[in-house]
Amino acid sequence: MVEESNTGASLNIHSRKNELARKVIVPLDYSNACDAETLLTALSGIPCYMKVGMELFYAEGPRFVLSLKERGYKVFLDLKMHDIPNTVKGGAASITRLGVDMFNVHAAGGIRMMEAAREGIDQALAASSATRPLLIAVTQLTSTSQAVMNQEIGISGSVEEAVVRYAKAAKQAGLDGVVASPHEVRLVKSCLTASFLTVTPGIRPAGTDVGDQSRVMTPREALAVGTDYMVIGRPITAHPNPRQAIENLIEELI
Ligand code: C5P
Repeated sequence: MVEESNTGASLNIHSRKNELARKVIVPLDYSNACDAETLLTALSGIPCYMKVGMELFYAEGPRFVLSLKERGYKVFLDLKMHDIPNTVKGGAASITRLGVDMFNVHAAGGIRMMEAAREGIDQALAASSATRPLLIAVTQLTSTSQAVMNQEIGISGSVEEAVVRYAKAAKQAGLDGVVASPHEVRLVKSCLTASFLTVTPGIRPAGTDVGDQSRVMTPREALAVGTDYMVIGRPITAHPNPRQAIENLIEELI
C-alpha cells in the first residue's frame, strides 16, 4: 500500500515535471546544426519546446526545422517577421508548411500585417495537413529599456503602455498571444483575456547573470504571474551541464 501510494506520488511528480517542462522554451542559439544537436542530446527526453531563431535558421535553413519535427519536437520558429503584409503572408504560409508549432511577427508591423500572417497560415492549411501553429506578436523586446524606447526608437510613454497597445493590436488581428517581459504578463492578461498567451523571455534563475536583458524575473516569479511559456536561454545553454540546469530549474518550480 505504501509502495503503491509512493508509486502514485512519483508518477504525479513526474507528470508535473513534464507539465512544467512543456512551458519552457529552450533557444537553439547556435551557428550550426552540430552544436544544436549537442544540446538536443543533452536535453533528450525533456519535453520542452525548442526555439530556432535567426542564427540557426539562416545557417541551416528549413531542413533543420523539418528534422526537429520529424523527431517529434515542439518547435517555435522565432524569425520575428516585419515586412509589408503581402510578404509576411507568403512567409507565414511557408513557415506553416514546415509544420512548426509556434512562430512570430513584430506587432510594430501593424494590424494589417499581422492579419496577413494569419491569412498566410490559412492559405497553407487549406492545401496541407499541417497543424495550425500558434501565431505570436513580439511587443517590446525585453532587452529594451524605457530610455532606449523613448530616445532611440522614438516611442513615447512607458514600456507597459507600448506593450498593452501592441497586445491589443495583436488580439484585434486575431493572433494567439504576445512575446513580452514577465513584468507585463498580469497587465496584458488583465487588459485582454487570461487565455491570451504570453511568451516571456528575460527569465533568470536567482543568482544567474542578467546579461543583455533589462526586464527580468526568476522562473518561479514568472510562473506566479501567469506566464504561459518561458524562454530560458543562457541559464541553460551556457551552463556547463545544461540537463542539470533545466532539471534544477524545474525542480525549483514544483
Ligand atoms: O535567456 P536568454 O536571454 O539567453 O534568451 C535569449 C533568447 O530569447 C534569444 O533566443 C532571443 O532571441 C530570445 N528573446 C526573444 N524576445 C525577447 C528577448 C529575447 O525572443 N524579447
